[in-house]
Amino acid sequence: MAEELIISTSTDKQERYATLVPQIQALVEGEKDIVANLSNIAAALKQTMDFFWVGFYLVKDNQLVLGPFQGPIACTRIQFGKGVCGASWKEKKVILVPDVEKFPGHIACSSASKSEIVLPAFKNNEVALVLDVDSDKIDDFDSIDEQELSKVMRAIEKFL
Ligand code: SME
Repeated sequence: MAEELIISTSTDKQERYATLVPQIQALVEGEKDIVANLSNIAAALKQTMDFFWVGFYLVKDNQLVLGPFQGPIACTRIQFGKGVCGASWKEKKVILVPDVEKFPGHIACSSASKSEIVLPAFKNNEVALVLDVDSDKIDDFDSIDEQELSKVMRAIEKFL
């Protein structure tokens, strides 16, 4: 496994993802430990995409519990259906929020967070964890993020 990340300096988001996603897939191949893999994925996403906050919430005892992340400290537990993360878990789908102030029930771990995307990963057709990415800019995520981060979620499902 390569221990150095090649980071695209392109201003084009799609190009940065194109350099990053295969490296993430390679990074987790052959390693089964969930914490090790999620930690490296959070770090790789932060380093490459310069997200304000990026990390995982794992389903444990019918709650979402904070997992590996990069960025400011965050809420540790989220209930089923609550906030963007809980809604993604409940609805079993990607949720893209252009303006968090307009999302009813949004959980503000940081007042600096303005837009957000949350993607679920599945094990046996149930949500096992979600990836949460926050931006300090409004409307910072689009279908490119959804498409590329979904590839990361499918790579994660291989070791869940
Ligand atoms: N905003 C999220 C909570 C997690 S933090 O942003 C890291 C939500 O509404 O679920």
